[in-house]
Amino acid sequence: MYKIINKEVLAPTVKKIDVEAPLIAGKTRPGNFIMLRINENGERIPLTVADYDREKGIITIIFQEVGYTTRLLGQLEKGDFIKDIVGPLGQHMDMEGYDKVVCLGGGSGTALLYPKVKGFYEKGAEVIAITGARTKELLILEEELAKISHRLYIATDDGSKGHHGFVTDILAEILEEEEIDLVVAIGPVPMMKAVSDMTRPYGVKTIVSLNSLMVDGTGMCGGCRVTVGGETKFTCVDGPAFDGHQVDFEELMNRLNFYNEEEKMVNKKEVS
Ligand code: FES
Repeated sequence: MYKIINKEVLAPTVKKIDVEAPLIAGKTRPGNFIMLRINENGERIPLTVADYDREKGIITIIFQEVGYTTRLLGQLEKGDFIKDIVGPLGQHMDMEGYDKVVCLGGGSGTALLYPKVKGFYEKGAEVIAITGARTKELLILEEELAKISHRLYIATDDGSKGHHGFVTDILAEILEEEEIDLVVAIGPVPMMKAVSDMTRPYGVKTIVSLNSLMVDGTGMCGGCRVTVGGETKFTCVDGPAFDGHQVDFEELMNRLNFYNEEEKMVNKKEVS
């Protein structure tokens, strides 16, 4: 059992919890994720470790309530327990050797972006962070990102804060004017595809973090398979970060829509 020792509401449907998990905190690196199960009968869901404190033995998870299980998780409070957590899983991200990095995230993708921004910043790279949401109320982690980046740009779809438009508009201007070593994009699949298409003509290496459907998270079921550079890869053990210029995004989008009807049925269930 894993105890929740702190909880914050970052936006109406975005929550942040600190969980006591010393063994996982001791081994996690930016890019790793965990699989958690809230109770005995619950489904396992993958969530990125947003931050960790090795000394205190704590991992931080930021999640958006998008389905039944994340809504259930959002109802847990400080002092409550999570039944199982397995991790750290996946490959951590290699952060050495980059001078100037752009990290951009859309919506709850910003939560997954946070450990990458922090990691590059701590390695001494010049970090430009770009975050966006539909409206200013849905923006998360602005203050935190400002502390661990050299420049922070904000975009909102309705223009209520920062640039009126998309995070990709800001990236387009930066690519036009500056030499960038690496772009890291995390968010909805169409956004990661758009970023990869945008950076390709500039020859700028681009890493995306894929949100494939996962069942076991350990390479056993094949549910999370993606095609990268013409080869089948498992997001849970080979990723979740991959070269965006090599990912077959069309196939990923089709696979993500595969269980739409079943997910709609489950998500209609009342959380009690
Ligand atoms: Fe089963 Fe990746 S989740 S192989």
